[in-house]
Formats: sequence, structure tokens, C-alpha cells
Amino acid sequence: MNGFQTIAYEKDDGGVARLTLSRPDVLNAINLQMRDELWSAFEAFRDDPDARVLVIRGAGRAFSAGADIAEFGTSPSYVEARRARRERDLWGLMLALPKPLIAAVHGFALGAGCEMSLLCDLRIASDDARFGLPEVGLGYIPSAGGTQTLPRTIAPGVALGMILSGDQIDAAEAYRLGLVHRVVPRDRLDAEAGAWARTLAERSPLALASAKEAVLRGLDLSLREGLALEGRLAAALLAVTRQSEV
Ligand code: COA
Repeated sequence: MNGFQTIAYEKDDGGVARLTLSRPDVLNAINLQMRDELWSAFEAFRDDPDARVLVIRGAGRAFSAGADIAEFGTSPSYVEARRARRERDLWGLMLALPKPLIAAVHGFALGAGCEMSLLCDLRIASDDARFGLPEVGLGYIPSAGGTQTLPRTIAPGVALGMILSGDQIDAAEAYRLGLVHRVVPRDRLDAEAGAWARTLAERSPLALASAKEAVLRGLDLSLREGLALEGRLAAALLAVTRQSEV
């Protein structure tokens, strides 16, 4: 897909799409243009039946150093900023994607960069990766989902500590806490993320989507409701499998 200036989006023949955050001079800080382009790329990925798995990575020396600080306070008004966010809920769109997302993180993943990785289903980090949520130190709070996704990913108390302190953690600590699934040497990151993506791209898209829905929607439900959801999804999958056997 062409025409983007702040990201690159491409897809191979095996169903693996790759989205590269591409403002390396500012450590891939997320500005309004990048948000718009991410929106288009996520929609393209969602609507393309041939794109089965998405790997998100950063160009240059970081995954992303978060929201573009140069744009802070540039919105015409607080009301306008809220309206724009509501109309284009980028992080909600990302969370609702029914296909697997893999974050391949190197260097800094701070603020919205860290939060973007948390909106992915799998996180693979290189040994030089650093994660942190510095917003409270700047007088804000994380607002790309981090206050909700981090405590659903690692122990809530540890998550709260990271959010209040703004302290960064390295890849080894992120692995120990369960924030990332794998840590690999920097020069292996793209290859390992690609291999992981190819494995998933060979799985049934419906089974992947059902598993995502069962886990992610299930987290918002009671155990009884979650088990009912799992039962419905499993039965629906079985029906489809049987039908294709007939
Ligand atoms: N928004 C806009 N520009 C950013 C940025 C951000 N979030 N993060 C880094 N940059 C820019 C820097 O201003 C610098 O630009 P310059 O070369 O024109 O001066 C360039 O990226 C390189 O960053 P630099 O600070 O020189 O690199 P470093 O290795 O010394 O430090 C960080 C890296 C990530 C520790 C530091 O850039 C930083 O603290 N960034 C802000 C992170 C942050 O608070 N993000 C959350 C915002 S809510």
C-alpha cells in the first residue's frame, strides 16, 4: 500500500503484513499524521482476506518514543481534541482487529509506543528494548489504553507501579514480568517475528479470531459468562468445520 509518509505497510504472498513506524529522526513519535495513516493501514489489513497476521515494528533505533511531544497543546481546544479522539478511536480499532498482531520491539517503546505494543496479541523484543509509561511525570496519564491493558498483561500492582513511577524496564525485566513473550538478539528480531507470523498465517483465520474473541472479550466477563462465550464460539467453529467436511 503506497502513499504513506509516516509508516510503511506491505504484505507478502504468505499472508503476513508488515507495518513499520517510520519517523526515525524523532524515534517514531506518533503525530496526528501517523495516527491517520495507522487508521488507514489497520482498516486495509482488517478488510484484506489475504492479510492474515500483522507484524508492527519501528524503523531506525526505536520502536516508538510515544506521542509526539511537539504536538502537545496544539489542538484548537480540549473539546475538539476529545471529539477527534471519539470519532477516530484508533486504539479501539486496533483492539477490535480479529487477526493476530505481533509487536516486534527494539529500542525505546515509551508512552503510546509501549501502549501500542500492549494492544498487540504477541510481543517479541530484542535485548536492547526498553518499555515505560512516562505520562504521569508529564502531568498526563497513559491514554492509548495503557491504564487498562498493562494491568491486564502483567500483575496489576506492578503495572500501577510502572504507571506512577514512569520507570523504564529493560527487555529481560519485561520478559520476567510477562510483558513480552520472547527476547531475541537485535539482529534476529525481524527474522524471529517473521517466522512467528508465518506460523500463525498457516492457522485457520476463524480459529484465530475465535480464540482472540474468547480471551479478550472473556476478560470483561464473569467466569460463567466467559465459559458460555467459549461454548458458543467452540460450537460455531465445530459447525463450520463439519460443514466443510460435508
Ligand atoms: N516526541 C517528539 N520528538 C521526540 C520524542 C517524542 N515523544 N521522543 C524523541 N523525540 C525526538 C527528540 O526530540 C530528538 O529530536 P532532535 O534530534 O530534533 O533533537 C530525537 O527524537 C532523538 O531523541 P533524543 O532525545 O536525542 O534521543 P536520546 O537517545 O537521547 O533519548 C529518549 C531518547 C526516548 C529517552 C528521549 O528522546 C525521550 O525522553 N523522549 C520522550 C519520551 C516521552 O516522554 N514519550 C511519551 C510522551 S507522552
